[in-house]
Amino acid sequence: MMSSQEELLSNIDRVDQRMLSLIEDLSEEQLAIPYERGINPPIWELGHSAFFYEYFLLRGFYNQAPIAPELDDMWDSFVIPHEERWSPGVVPGFESTLSYYRDVIDQTREHLASKTELTDEEVYLGQYVIAHQCMHVESLVWCRQTSGFQAPVYSRSGNSGAPATTTPTEDVEVPAGTYFIGVPAPAEGRKSDNFSFDNERPGFEIELPDFRISSTLVSLGDFLAFVEDDAYTREEFWSFGGAYWLRNNPRTAPAYWEKRDGEWWIRRFDQWEKIDPTLPLLHISYWEAEAYCNWAGRRLPSEFEWEAAARGAEALKFPTGNFMTAGDYDLDCRFAGTAPVTAFPESASPFGCLQMIGSAWEWTSNQYLPFDGFCVDMYAYMSTLQFATHNTCKGGSGATDPSLIRNSYRQAYHPDRSDVFVGFRTCAPVI
Ligand SMILES: [Fe+2]
Repeated sequence: MMSSQEELLSNIDRVDQRMLSLIEDLSEEQLAIPYERGINPPIWELGHSAFFYEYFLLRGFYNQAPIAPELDDMWDSFVIPHEERWSPGVVPGFESTLSYYRDVIDQTREHLASKTELTDEEVYLGQYVIAHQCMHVESLVWCRQTSGFQAPVYSRSGNSGAPATTTPTEDVEVPAGTYFIGVPAPAEGRKSDNFSFDNERPGFEIELPDFRISSTLVSLGDFLAFVEDDAYTREEFWSFGGAYWLRNNPRTAPAYWEKRDGEWWIRRFDQWEKIDPTLPLLHISYWEAEAYCNWAGRRLPSEFEWEAAARGAEALKFPTGNFMTAGDYDLDCRFAGTAPVTAFPESASPFGCLQMIGSAWEWTSNQYLPFDGFCVDMYAYMSTLQFATHNTCKGGSGATDPSLIRNSYRQAYHPDRSDVFVGFRTCAPVI
């Protein structure tokens, strides 16, 4: 087993390599991407990720002097307004940003590698800044999808698809009982033992009645039936919120779908392909997921039901146990959402749900709210700005880094969003 020091260094190297590969093959024209609400200029993502390492570790922990203090406001997402990141001459050029990034990552690596033993705080801060960079790696991947850029270099070899299996799509039963949600508040000086974000703490027990949940994600084939039934135009399936969203985002099929000569095609990155009904549905807003449930006589799981279905009675960290076996899932752009919803039978949770980790983030019915006893972490904006305006999504997507995700992880997405790698699974209605 790797020590926490070896694990930190290996994660820094992998995530560093991922981020650079997501930027280095972009042309100058692609780097000068036009303004879009759901993305950031790639160069800003690079500088901002490095700033996190510099601010919390190099300055905050190792007491180093700022490397380029005049740029602090530029890299701090809560100082520079989102639209301003596109103003000409505001974000520095690629070469100077890359050199700042390289300095910061290399210096961090040197500090962490030179110690014989790291303190709990040091490991925790390291885990925190790497996890933050993982989030920005995923946002660079959806930036490519939004912009119609080529697929990430490191996913291309895997895009031929994972093996399909004959595992039937069916509901599994989760028995009534007491389930553990979230992560226990850490003991003093042991924050790094079981890394989590503030929004996952403090964990608690919950009593759930029995329920039935689909063993698989909603597939493109499942959703095609909804589209072909003209459900986008039928008011009875849309809530007030859904109807409002649809009025402002008029469509008769999901984002990136197009009908040509009677056949449906979807765009993945810069490629159009015929719909493969076995693949997971992606890029769907909460409102579309809700309308689908109304049409299908189903409902979205609550985040607590989802977590109980993934963790089982033993409160596992991952569906298959307490250690990540990344090969069991579509993560890290291994297939980037192009593996069928039954492709990984070995990923089954204790109750038989497949691919709860990876493949697609999953909408839940819950508004994203703090747990009782919530205590804000040293970076106040990680969770608090999204409380009560976003919904909780679970499980990670095909673009998520394996080191970021676990059953207790709570992603906050605004219900209007369909640009991110989000889909859903459904539950049988409560009778
Ligand atoms: Fe950030």
